Amino acid sequence: MRLTSLTLNRYRNLEPQTLKPGPLQNILAGSNAQGKTNLLEAIYVCCVGRSHQTVRDRELIRWGEETASVSLDCARRDGIHRIEVGLTLSGRKTIRINGSPIHRIGDLMGHINAVIFTPAELSLVRDGPSCRRRFLNMSLSQIRPDYFLWLQRYHQALSQRNALLRAPEGGVLATLPVWDAQLARAGARLTADRRDFCARLAVHASEIHAELAGGESFTVSYSAAAEADDTERLEAALLALLINNRENDVRRGITTAGPHRDDIVLRIDGADARVYGSQGQKRTCALSMKLAEREIMREETGEEPLLLLDDVFSELDGERRRMLLGFIGGTQTFITCVSAEQEGLPRQEDALVCDVIAGRIRPRGRYRAEPGERETGSDDIFTDEPEPSDAPRQT
Ligand SMILES: Nc1ncnc2c1ncn2[C@@H]1O[C@H](COP(=O)(O)OP(=O)(O)O)[C@@H](O)[C@H]1O
Ligand SMILES: [Mg+2]
Repeated sequence: MRLTSLTLNRYRNLEPQTLKPGPLQNILAGSNAQGKTNLLEAIYVCCVGRSHQTVRDRELIRWGEETASVSLDCARRDGIHRIEVGLTLSGRKTIRINGSPIHRIGDLMGHINAVIFTPAELSLVRDGPSCRRRFLNMSLSQIRPDYFLWLQRYHQALSQRNALLRAPEGGVLATLPVWDAQLARAGARLTADRRDFCARLAVHASEIHAELAGGESFTVSYSAAAEADDTERLEAALLALLINNRENDVRRGITTAGPHRDDIVLRIDGADARVYGSQGQKRTCALSMKLAEREIMREETGEEPLLLLDDVFSELDGERRRMLLGFIGGTQTFITCVSAEQEGLPRQEDALVCDVIAGRIRPRGRYRAEPGERETGSDDIFTDEPEPSDAPRQT
C-alpha cells in the first residue's frame, strides 16, 4: 500500500498542509521539536484511530484550537482508501472511510496497516509485560478486525468484573459467573490469536535477528495464564482459572490472571533478554520484532504495510543501517532524522527528502549522499504505561 496524499489541519504543531509522499523512502529531516514525530503520529492515527504516544485525543489538537483533522489517501490493490479523522476538544472523534462515517473504531482496522518503530519501542524488551501486550493488541487489531472486537468485549467484561470485586457487598457477587463466562469466552480468542501470532513472530524475528546481530539466537514465545490446544478448551481452562482464583480476586479486588496479565518471553542465546540483554541487544531485539511484525502483516493482508521509523537510524551503527535499509527495500517508508546527510541515510535514488521546520514540511527533492558523512547520536524518548496494580485492596 502507498500513501498518495496526506492533509493536516490544526494537528499538533503542524501547519495546515497537504503532502504528496514519494512512493518509497520519505525522509523527514529537521532539528528537535519541529514536528517530525507528530507527522508520523498523524499517519498512525489514520491506521488505528489513536496515537501511539498518548491515549488523550485532545492533545492532538493544536493548542488554542477547538478541532483538528487529518486525512489521507492510500492506494491499495483494491483501490484508494480515503481515511478522514476529525477530533474535537469536547472529545468527539469522527472517522470517515471513503466519505462514509463509521460508528465503531473497529471498522477502521485493516484499511491502512503500518508498523511504527520509535526509540520508545525499546520498552518492548526493556519494560514490563504491558508494553508487550500493547504491541500484540495494536498489531493484531490491524490485521484481524475480529481481534479488536474481542479485545473490546474482554475489557468491558474485565472492568465489570473488577467493579464487582471492589464492591462485593449486597450479594452482587452472585452475578460474577456471568462476567467469568464472558471473560473466558473473549479471553480464549485473544489467547489463541496471540499465541498464533507469537509463533509466527518467533520464526521471522529469529531469522531477522540472526542477520542483524551476527548469528545471536533470539527466541520469542507467548506465556499465557491458560494453555490448551483449541479455542474451546482454552475457554474452559480460562473459566476454571477464574473460578479457582475467585476467592483471591475478591480479597485483592482485581482479576489477577488472564490475557490481561499474559506476557511474551524473549530470550537471547537462552537468557532472558529483559534481564540480561545490553541496551544495544534490546534495541536490536525490538527492531527484529517490529520487522517480524511487518512480515506477518504482509502475509496476512497481501499488502506491504507502511513503515514509520522515528529516529531509528541514528541509533544504529553503519553495518546495521545498511542491513535495515536492505530489509525495508521496496516499502513506502517514512524516516525521521536530524540530518539525512549526517546520519548517512538512504542512497535510494528516488528517496524524497523533506525538511521539517516549525511544523512546515518542505520537500527538498531527491537525496544524494555526500562523501564523508558522519554519525550522530540522538536523544532517546522513552515512554511507558504503568503496570496495573495488583496490590491488595485497602479497606
Ligand atoms: N497540541 C499541540 N499543539 C501545538 N504544538 C504541539 C502540540 N503537541 C505538541 N506540540 C509541539 O510540537 C512540537 C514538535 O513535536 P515533535 O513532532 O515531537 O518534534 P520532533 O521534530 O522532534 O519529532 C513540540 O515542540 C511540541 O511542544
Ligand atoms: Mg521526534
